[in-house]
Amino acid sequence: MLNKLQKEILEIKEEKNAIILSHNYQPGEIQEIADFIGDSLELCIKASQIKDKDLVVFCGVDFMAETAFILNPDKKIVIPDAGAECPMAHMLPAEKIKNAKEVYPDAAVVLYVNTLAEAKAEADVLCTSANALKVVESLDEDTILFGPDYNLAWYVSQHTNKEIIPIPENGHCYVHKMFNPADILFLKQKYPDAEVLVHPECDPEVQEAGDHVLSTGGMLKTIHGSSSETFIIGTEIDMTTRIKSENPDKNVIPAFEEAICENMKLHTLEKIKNSLLKEEFIVKVPEDVAAKALNAVERMLEISS
Ligand code: 13P
Ligand code: SF4
Repeated sequence: MLNKLQKEILEIKEEKNAIILSHNYQPGEIQEIADFIGDSLELCIKASQIKDKDLVVFCGVDFMAETAFILNPDKKIVIPDAGAECPMAHMLPAEKIKNAKEVYPDAAVVLYVNTLAEAKAEADVLCTSANALKVVESLDEDTILFGPDYNLAWYVSQHTNKEIIPIPENGHCYVHKMFNPADILFLKQKYPDAEVLVHPECDPEVQEAGDHVLSTGGMLKTIHGSSSETFIIGTEIDMTTRIKSENPDKNVIPAFEEAICENMKLHTLEKIKNSLLKEEFIVKVPEDVAAKALNAVERMLEISS
C-alpha cells in the first residue's frame, strides 16, 4: 500500500511524462515507486531504450546518471540529490588512465562503469560486474588496463589467461570492504543449507568464501532459478529488500547488516518530489566528452547483447 507522498510522486510523474529509474540499493520506499529497478548494466540498457519520456529521474549515484545522459543527450536527466556520488568512481581521474596508456601502449583499456564521464572517454570499452569477464574475453588484446575496482579486477584475473593490470592499484568500494570471510563462515555454519551470494567488489577472501560471485542483477536471477530456501547475501543492505520483495517465501540473510551505501541513501521521497516538480538537479556531460564516452558505452552494450 503506497503512502500519500508516494501517491503524489506518481501523479506528478504522470503529469511530467517522467520515468523513475532506481538502482537495487535504493530503500524499499523508493523501489516501490520506481518504473524500473536494476543493476548497473540493466539500468544502462533501460536508459538506452527511453524514447517517449520527457524527464528521467535517476535514483542512483553520479556515474549512473551521467551514463544515462551519455545515452540520451537530448533528454532531461535529473538526480534527486546532487551530492549522490560514488567515491570509487572518483578514484580514477582521466589523467591516471592517460599515464597508464603511455606505460602500456598495447593494452586495451576496460573501465568499470563506476567511473566519471572524463574517464569513460579514455576507455576502449566499459563493463559492469555483470559482464566484466565477457567484455575482457571479447577483446583481441592480451594485456588489459582495468579499473578502478581492484577486487573486480582480481575476480576477472582468476577467470582469464589475459594479463589484468589494475588502475589505480587500490581502487575500492568502502561498502563492499566491510564484508569479511569470518562473518560468512559463521553464517554458513549457522545455515548449512544456504547458498552464499557475494558481489565481486568484495575482497578476494570474501569472494572465495561465497558459492557465487555475482552482480546484484545476477543475484536476483540466481535466486529465481534456485530451489534453495536460504540465501546469504554479501552486498549493500537494500539488495536484500529487493530480493525479499520478489521472494517473500525465501529466507534472505544479509552477510553484514551495516553494509550501507550512504551515497545511494541521499535520495529520499521528498527529494524525488522536488526533483520532479523543479526538474532538478540536472545531470549533463560536455558534448566532446559524452561523444567519446558513448563509443565505450555502446561497445559494452553490443558485447552484452
Ligand atoms: P551492480 O548493481 O551493477 O552489481 O553494481 C553494484 C554497485 O556497487 C553499483 O554501484
Ligand atoms: Fe559506489 Fe560502493 Fe556505493 Fe556502489 S556501493 S555506489 S561502488 S560506494
